[in-house]
Amino acid sequence: MRCFSIAVMLLSIILTSCNSGDKKVVDIIPQPQQLEIGSGSFALSGKLTINYRDDQSIIDLADYFTKLVKTNFDLDFVKSDNDYTENTLNIFYLGDISMYGEEGYKLIIDEKGIKIFAATDKGLFYGLQSLYQLMLTNKTESGIIVLPELEITDDAMFKYRGMHLDVGRHMFPVEFIKKYIDLLALYKFNNFHWHLTEDQGWRIEIKKYPKLTEIGAFRKQTLVGHGGKTPYVYDGKPYGGYYTQNEIKEIVEYAAERKINIIPEIEMPGHSLAALAAYPELACKPDSFEVAQRWGVFKDIYCTKEENFKFLEDVLTEVMELFPSEYIHIGGDEAPKDRWKECDVCQATIKREGLKDEHELQSYFIQRIEKFLNDNGRQIIGWDEILEGGLAPNATIMSWRGTDGGIAAAKQNHYAIMTPGSHCYFDHYQADPKNEPLAIGGYTNLEKVYSYNPIPDTLTRQEGRYILGTQANVWTEYMKTPEHVEYMVLPRMAALSEVCWTYPIHKDWNSFQNRIKEHFKIYKELDYNYCDHPFVVETEK
Ligand code: ACM
Ligand code: ZN
Repeated sequence: MRCFSIAVMLLSIILTSCNSGDKKVVDIIPQPQQLEIGSGSFALSGKLTINYRDDQSIIDLADYFTKLVKTNFDLDFVKSDNDYTENTLNIFYLGDISMYGEEGYKLIIDEKGIKIFAATDKGLFYGLQSLYQLMLTNKTESGIIVLPELEITDDAMFKYRGMHLDVGRHMFPVEFIKKYIDLLALYKFNNFHWHLTEDQGWRIEIKKYPKLTEIGAFRKQTLVGHGGKTPYVYDGKPYGGYYTQNEIKEIVEYAAERKINIIPEIEMPGHSLAALAAYPELACKPDSFEVAQRWGVFKDIYCTKEENFKFLEDVLTEVMELFPSEYIHIGGDEAPKDRWKECDVCQATIKREGLKDEHELQSYFIQRIEKFLNDNGRQIIGWDEILEGGLAPNATIMSWRGTDGGIAAAKQNHYAIMTPGSHCYFDHYQADPKNEPLAIGGYTNLEKVYSYNPIPDTLTRQEGRYILGTQANVWTEYMKTPEHVEYMVLPRMAALSEVCWTYPIHKDWNSFQNRIKEHFKIYKELDYNYCDHPFVVETEK
């Protein structure tokens, strides 16, 4: 964090004369908190001179912005150590957090040039994202960018702004994970929830347990069609893959450069069939398990035997070495208790610990994992099922089965992140299912996402402070390709970004509908697939 210091990155831009007939567009998403538009403009083309001061974070930001802008604009970048000048882009650390907020910034464009002020790196980064959107939406055919005169004062509504991606059901190349992270940056999201382990595939290399990826990362074949339709039909094609620790390090670094924290999710005690296929002794009743080939919830889960805690702690130790995130997601959802009910070891644990039932046994399981992670300076997030049987002392709840879990957590003074299926599940249909690619079901269109307010009315003002923010979940049973993931998240994640970032008084559905149409041009320019008919109205399924 940078306070009270002033450092300057200066991009001096060769000015060209401004064509007053050009359309001025301010189509920033998420909508900034304050925006005043003037009558003047600032035109740029040709050469950008970047002046480095002796400040590493300014240099890092300049490098990032240079790379970003170079891919879309025909501008030459020149390094220089000039001081502040007019007719340039000037980026300052200025003031303190009370002035701009932790992630806030001020962006001023006038005929003398462009200035961005913020108290932190994040603030400057978000100021640059707003500028980048302005550049993309104001690029003329001749390549000249004519920016409108304006003054923006902006800061985030919610501290947690997340996008999730399931790589267990289908796996995506490193290059796509980076492209996905770029989208998060464009829309000022600050957390990428990376769902790395599933019944259908274990996707993170763990050096101490090589079979997790040798065996657990590959399935024999995959279900064809919808998972709710029997008889099951399979494609007969082996499928799999995983991310090496080196690839993960590269992605974590890439995200950090974009002010995005990656929260890894290691599912337990359920959704663990791929791990059981690799190491059957982790189950209550070892068997010749196979990595799942269809979707759903499976009864074989981690047993609560003592050795399993050692296994999970070893796995989490390697996870912590890779991910600096304060939060580690430990799953906790959809863990059927059938096997625990039949297992002598699990029943003995219930007796020994004086637990009431298998829900309390799950709670005991999660609390042990929480203690281990807390002792290592980390905090856990779990799906809302971890409320059942008693909440682990410091856990944050991710509320997915509606909002009740988040409400219950907040009332117990626990933090919560709202991801209700009704508004935040981007695996649902976004338009008329008759004309859409196969999805899991549901219907969550753009307007519904946009309408979401993560703070439930039933909470008091004080309780509402425990709602950290919101996130969209992208489960990939029916998304086999990067293009399909892009189609499902765009433009819905733009709507969610406004839910996360913009204060409700500044949200406006009509204005958003106009701005999103301009963003379709950005998607084309940046080569993202997207749903181009998000305004159809479909009756609730
Ligand atoms: C979930 O959708 N099972 C968290
Ligand atoms: Zn057991």
